[in-house]
Amino acid sequence: MPTLLLELGPLAHLALGEGPLTGQQMLDDESLVEAEGQGIFIDEGVIQRISESDEMRAEYIGGKRGFGLVGEEIEGITVIEAGGRAVVPGLVDSHTHLLWGGDRSREMRWRLQGESYQSIAKRGGGIVHTVQQTRSMRLEDLITTGLARVEIALSNGTTAMEVKSGYGLSTDSELRLLEAASQLQGVSIDSTWLGAHAPPPEMERGAYVEQILAEQLPAVLESGLAQSADVFCEPGWFTLEETEDICKAAMDGGLDIRLHVDEFVDGGGLSLAAELGALSGDHAHWSDSQARAEASAAGTLQCFLPGTPFSMGETHFPPANECIESEFPWCAASDFNPNCQILSLPFIGNLLSQRMGVDPLASLVAVSRNSACVTRHEKGLKHGMLVEGGAADLNILDSPFWESWCQRPGISPFAATMKDGDLMLH
Ligand code: NIG
Ligand code: FE
Repeated sequence: MPTLLLELGPLAHLALGEGPLTGQQMLDDESLVEAEGQGIFIDEGVIQRISESDEMRAEYIGGKRGFGLVGEEIEGITVIEAGGRAVVPGLVDSHTHLLWGGDRSREMRWRLQGESYQSIAKRGGGIVHTVQQTRSMRLEDLITTGLARVEIALSNGTTAMEVKSGYGLSTDSELRLLEAASQLQGVSIDSTWLGAHAPPPEMERGAYVEQILAEQLPAVLESGLAQSADVFCEPGWFTLEETEDICKAAMDGGLDIRLHVDEFVDGGGLSLAAELGALSGDHAHWSDSQARAEASAAGTLQCFLPGTPFSMGETHFPPANECIESEFPWCAASDFNPNCQILSLPFIGNLLSQRMGVDPLASLVAVSRNSACVTRHEKGLKHGMLVEGGAADLNILDSPFWESWCQRPGISPFAATMKDGDLMLH
């Protein structure tokens, strides 16, 4: 049944031109937010029309009224009265490691006792520890775990998600992770193969890269289960040369490229991402300004992940405002992983605005419109913004102000989330 959403508060539709928004466009509330009083007509999971609420009420349901957010059927249409609540697009989490088993909670104490991420990895903690736990999970266990996490993300307004493999590190277990991702439901999923997340415990790095090129990548391509390839390109993990070899082979196989770069040191990863024409260079925490300019020129987005330094007790964050000043395209995401258990993009918005000084509108653009540029919608629809012909994926805030989306740390700011035209009350 079609749905009519009436009496919206401010509508942060974020629809302006094509591609990622940059510079002052990210702050332009006159172009990106429509004043209160709009309505949206939805059918088949697609926004059919955005127009004046009063006009649509008269035209579609003869001036009748529904019952708030619960929804009431009138003239064969589900009518939802938003009561002046602000509306923003469904959020797009453009970087997650959603699927893994085990628990690494002990590592926070080790860090506080002076150990680094690198030294924890060397003593068998970190990624390799999670790999051991994840390999023993059956496909059904991975799916059940993933669905529970999708539920949490959805209750925090996420309607589309990039999901990486990377805690299997063998051909079989990486394929099992990609298979599990393909069976998730509730949000739109875009899958990325991250076989080169770390060398597996049983093999030296060079041998693993050879195995990836000879066996794992061909099997992933054959499966058709991944849209993109990613590599943890960082001194101590995979070198620039290894990353380039893996990415070129993946690109030959038709995959897009996303990369983990410059997370702990400036290792030249963002320049490589630009050179390869990657969709994004993620973390890009310590990249120099030359590399950021190269990425911008290549159309490679920097995907900032402020939840990672936050979860590791660090106070240094990536330079998002400088990127706005320089008109470099960037987005932001959760980086949900065993070491950063954040599934809430509004919490990432808190960090962006309350720790990094980024304007709440620019922060919203970063986790919706701009993240959608690197995270495709399962149905090939426009998302991360609210436009006629685009996905009916949106959030109704529990507030008359769109700015409230990123000002409730630890609490979902949303009264309801619509995915594919279906409204879920929170
Ligand atoms: O993006 N840095 C590489 N991968 C993840 C962390 C993985 C882990 O610690 O398990 C990240 O932060
Ligand atoms: Fe990551």
